[in-house]
Amino acid sequence: MFYISGTGKAIPSQIVTNNDLALYLDTNDEWITSRTGIKERRILKDHTENTVTLSAGAALEAMKNANLSAKDIDCVIVATASPIQPIPSTANLVAEMLGIHGPAFDINAACSGFVYGLSVAGGFFAQNMYENILLIGADSLSTYIDKHDRSTVILFGDGAGAVTLSATENPQAGLLGIDLSGDSSLAPILEVRNNNHPEIEENAESHLTMNGREVFKVAVRSVEKSIATTLDSANIKGQDVDWLLLHQANVRIIDAICERLDIDREKALTNIEKYGNTSAASIPILLAEVAEQNRFKDGDLLVFCGFGAGMTWGTCILRWFENK
Ligand code: UT7
Repeated sequence: MFYISGTGKAIPSQIVTNNDLALYLDTNDEWITSRTGIKERRILKDHTENTVTLSAGAALEAMKNANLSAKDIDCVIVATASPIQPIPSTANLVAEMLGIHGPAFDINAACSGFVYGLSVAGGFFAQNMYENILLIGADSLSTYIDKHDRSTVILFGDGAGAVTLSATENPQAGLLGIDLSGDSSLAPILEVRNNNHPEIEENAESHLTMNGREVFKVAVRSVEKSIATTLDSANIKGQDVDWLLLHQANVRIIDAICERLDIDREKALTNIEKYGNTSAASIPILLAEVAEQNRFKDGDLLVFCGFGAGMTWGTCILRWFENK
């Protein structure tokens, strides 16, 4: 069994508001706020900030909150779709930066990456392989965004969130339910192609392209099904959920999910207004912020659900514990 022993986050210093975007784009604060719930996002300021530095910052905060040092970490997993280089992995670069020795690897499941990572880590704990795992969700999708594409630039922000996961004998701890799902035939509705792609011209820039309406529909349908199936398999009723931590992509998606699952809207935590969609970082940043405010109580039932490019989606259920 394992529990979340520490949480942390790191966000770029540069704030880009809706009004900043409206200065050069045919958009406005009213449209962005009412269609998405987003008011501002954080964007990498310069080359001193990137997916690795954000990951390391979030990791250090999580380790500090858990009273763990580099020598205590047995494995590093980074969920990211925006590494600064293909090889070695972001996790290797973070481990080296923090002086952590041992296995380190990345997971690319786009915005579902943190939930996929949680289930992978859960598998390692089920095999009693490690005492402490550092799991980070980090993305800098601004590096893939065409700043003149109003349908995507308004949505995405950069950031990183991290958790330390620690072994415990508590029989109530650990994953109470998991669902990892996806549909690869939907890949074209949200993608970034790079120069290795056969249909990309040499030296063309890589931009994120998205069919927003389709992604919206798939997200609502698949998230509803994934959460319902996972709750069902764990024999848990919607009313027994204390907190819903959904991927922060659009507040209207979160509203629709709560309505369909008959879960009180107040239980669905949000911070999308401040950060936009930070991809694999959105759930761990949200978790870190709410933990910082001491809003979780011992034994609270947390449901995590991510969805994103691939398409990928998935749910993990676990209880919050203050101590081992
Ligand atoms: O991690 C997963 C990542 N992606 C998502 O979760 C995206 C899911 N989809 C969405 O969040 C929404 O589909 C969007 C926010 C992207 C778009 O909202 P929508 O309500 O689906 O708008 P729409 O695409 O249907 O566009 C409605 C209108 C269009 O104009 P017409 O054709 O009705 O004249 C767009 O051209 O709004 C226009 N529009 C904008 N207007 C002002 C599109 N983007 C903007 C904009 N500002 N930024």
